[in-house]
Amino acid sequence: MKAVKYRLILALCFVYTIHVMADDSIRFSEIRRGLFRHKKHDGPCVARNSIDKCWRCDPKWADNRQKMAGCVQGFGHNTTGGKGGKVYVVTNPSDNDVINPIPGTLRHAVLQPEPLWIVFSRHMNIRLCRELLFTSNKTIDARGFHIHIAGGAGIMLQNIRNIIISNIHMYDITTANGGMIRSAPHHVGVRGASDGDAICIFGSTDVWIDHCSFAGSYDGLIDIVARSTDITISNNHFVRHDKALLFGASDDTPDENMRVTLAFNHFGKGLTQRLPAVRWGFVHVVNNDYTMWKSYAIGGAKGATIISQGNRYKAEHGAAKEVTHRNCAEKKEWHKWTWRSEGDLMLNGAFFVNSGNANWAAAYKGYPLLKPQPAHMVHELTNFAGAALGCRVGLPC
Ligand SMILES: *[C@@H]1O[C@H](CO)[C@@H](O)[C@H](O)[C@H]1NC(C)=O
Ligand SMILES: *[C@@H]1O[C@H](CO)[C@@H](O)[C@H](O)[C@H]1NC(C)=O
Repeated sequence: MKAVKYRLILALCFVYTIHVMADDSIRFSEIRRGLFRHKKHDGPCVARNSIDKCWRCDPKWADNRQKMAGCVQGFGHNTTGGKGGKVYVVTNPSDNDVINPIPGTLRHAVLQPEPLWIVFSRHMNIRLCRELLFTSNKTIDARGFHIHIAGGAGIMLQNIRNIIISNIHMYDITTANGGMIRSAPHHVGVRGASDGDAICIFGSTDVWIDHCSFAGSYDGLIDIVARSTDITISNNHFVRHDKALLFGASDDTPDENMRVTLAFNHFGKGLTQRLPAVRWGFVHVVNNDYTMWKSYAIGGAKGATIISQGNRYKAEHGAAKEVTHRNCAEKKEWHKWTWRSEGDLMLNGAFFVNSGNANWAAAYKGYPLLKPQPAHMVHELTNFAGAALGCRVGLPC
């Protein structure tokens, strides 16, 4: 009798699992990828890309967490985050007081006046009840734990500098009410409602976002606006979103000086467009893996400069083959915009429409451009993209 009961329970679990998978297959595969993606690599740690090589396979990574601060490349290369500062351990996942945040919460940590290297005491689900405002010189280092910021407001980096965000999962970010919110150690002010971006970089410089996993938020996954610059977005995993990345503010607030490096990211299931969309500025897209876009991968307007090197673009069946999209511009205008594809791997009929200056490199000498690896290596270079490194203290990540 007992055995029959046991089998019945097993069968029910199985049916339930199948049901959940069918119900929300993208979500499920995303979570599975998130949690177990790297477990197939049982062998020795392999770090293939130049940023990961700098720290990932060091079994003592947790004894020297701040070493990571020297690993960033590309336009965000001067970012040091909370390097040199104290370690702050977040022990409390709540977010109940946005005026006087409770010590031990993430909100309390990111508002402290001094440089801080912020780590976590355990796995956490954090639902932000209002946008999370930072002060300068902070690192969020979630290595070693599953830190999910989900189901609430997102992160707002406003008029600050020098921020590293590493190893967090962000999804299902929603708009949130404004109201009185602390924005600095000695300042509480009235804020408008937040847009529902996972991360908004507003008027901020020297930002590095590395090894995070992003999915389905109300507005963008990462938006860069209002004269932000010197940003590197590397080793992240993006899924399930219509308009993931928007770089460059409105058409009439020119972000000419915006410079962003997008490297070693994986753009996966359920993406439609804006990977990224760029207005103004200079975006270096290097060694990313694009395995899904429905209408276009890289779009732009307003004379944006886009240099695409060593990426893999794989057009999905039934989706647009063209990687690029010029928004609201006649050819006589956009043929002057410098959009160049060099050494990209184009699969399933994918194609990139070049324009502008083929000798762009001469004009950008001295820029911190990450040197591309051959595009056929992209799968390996991005195989560990996202927040699911599964780092454990005492072992290589
Ligand atoms: C990075 O810092 C160096 C010196 O510390 C400075 O010369 C350089 O302009 C900075 N680069 C960027 C992109 O800000
Ligand atoms: C951040 O750190 C830099 C270098 O340590 C320091 O010069 C700067 O004043 C700090 N910024 C703020 C806003 O505290």
